[in-house]
Formats: sequence, C-alpha cells, structure tokens
Amino acid sequence: LLDAGNGTALTGKRVVITAGPTREPIDPVRYISNHSSGKMGYALASAARAAGAHVVLVSGPVTLPAPAGVEVRGVLTAQDMLREASRAVDEGCDLFIATAAVADYRPENCAGDKIKKSSEAMSLSLVRNPDTLATIAGRTDAPFTVGFAAETADVERYATEKMQRKKLNMIVANDVSAPGLGFNSDNNAVTVFWPGGNESMGPDSKTNIARRLMAMIGDHLGEVAR
Ligand code: CTP
Ligand code: CA
Repeated sequence: LLDAGNGTALTGKRVVITAGPTREPIDPVRYISNHSSGKMGYALASAARAAGAHVVLVSGPVTLPAPAGVEVRGVLTAQDMLREASRAVDEGCDLFIATAAVADYRPENCAGDKIKKSSEAMSLSLVRNPDTLATIAGRTDAPFTVGFAAETADVERYATEKMQRKKLNMIVANDVSAPGLGFNSDNNAVTVFWPGGNESMGPDSKTNIARRLMAMIGDHLGEVAR
C-alpha cells in the first residue's frame, strides 16, 4: 500500500462521506436518535484529506471539530441527510462513503406543541426513512460506493447481503456486540468485503483503522479506474 499523500489513487478525487447519527423529531423538545459519535466518519474524512482528496462531510449532530481542510455540512434528519448527500454528489463525486447511523424510522408526525403525558401507555406511529446509501449507489452516475454495516450477529452474512442489495463496491462490517469496540468507542475492529474478497483489520484506534481503510479503498478505486 502506498502512503497517504504520496500520490495515491485518492489524490485530487472528490469524496463525500456521511457521518454521525440522525435526529428524528417527535415534538419541539424530543427526538429519536442513537449513540453514534461520528468518530469513524470524521477519521475517514481526515485520512482522505491527508491522501490528497477534496472532502465533503455530511454530518448529523456530533461534538467533534471539523477536520482540517474538510467541508462539513450539518444535517439533522434522515431526509436532510439524503438531500444534502445527493446535492454533494451532484457537485461531482468519485467516492461516496456512508458511515452515518441513520434512523431507519421517523415519527409519522412531529407534534407542533410539546406532548403532555396522560394515559399509562402511549405509542408512536413511525414511518420508514429514505436510504441515502442505496439511493446514491443506485444512481446511473453512481460514484464508487462504500457502505458500513453495524451488526450484532451473523456479521458476514448480513454485511454481504447489504452489499449486494444496495449495489455497493465495498462494505465495512463491524461487530458492535464486541465490548469496547465500534459504536461510541475510540477503537474498532472491522472486516471489509468486496465482490470476490475480504480483509480484516484491528482491533486498533479508529484513526489507524481509518488510514488503513482509506488506503485499501484507494487501491480498489484505482483498480476500477484502470
Ligand atoms: N444507510 C443510509 N440511510 C439509511 C440507512 C442506512 O445511508 N436510511 C447506510 C448506513 O450509513 C450504512 C449502511 O447504509 O452505510 C448500512 O446501514 P445499516 O443500518 O447497517 O443497514 P440497513 O440497511 O439500515 O439495515 P438494518 O438496520 O435493518 O440492518
Ligand atoms: Ca439501519
């Protein structure tokens, strides 16, 4: 593998990365979300920038600073994420990486006023959110597309199924049931699948995993371009 910054397949390439959680409003003061920290996506954005790419990071609400030289476009909901990611891809994109932990469902209606408690039980009606990754990968002008899959069981089967169903070039699987790894952690261990192969890396810091992942993605991108 070539070192970042040494004229790799990523030099001058336009990269769009989604990161962080989404927030789906229930009423003016409440929302549905998840524990995603955004660390993996931000680390990948830094690594891609260090490798000479132009990087747009479409990010849900996180507490991380913008990586140097990376343009961060903040979003809240899954619908916002699809809109902003599509716009960023429209501007020109060679490589799309989806690390965001997008809420699969949103409340059917957001109440205009704060919901008051009344009965002992209540239920919320939820509807499916759009899938940003599948939408981008399904475009006729689709860039090289990489997805992430956070799984707690049958990691290889679910990850390779997702890769095929969403028409991805690669998928990065992590087992979020492993203690101290993945979601909201500084460390990660992943297995990368592509049609015809796979490679595992870690456990290691998300920074190191991100550097090695970007190098690996760059190699595959280079092969497609050749
Ligand atoms: N993803 C997305 N938009 C969604 C849901 C998922 O862009 N609405 C992307 C994620 O960023 C990730 C990949 O799709 O790169 C897989 O997400 P994951 O939640 O593991 O898969 P789902 O397809 O949502 O399936 P499920 O949650 O049922 O396992
Ligand atoms: Ca999901």
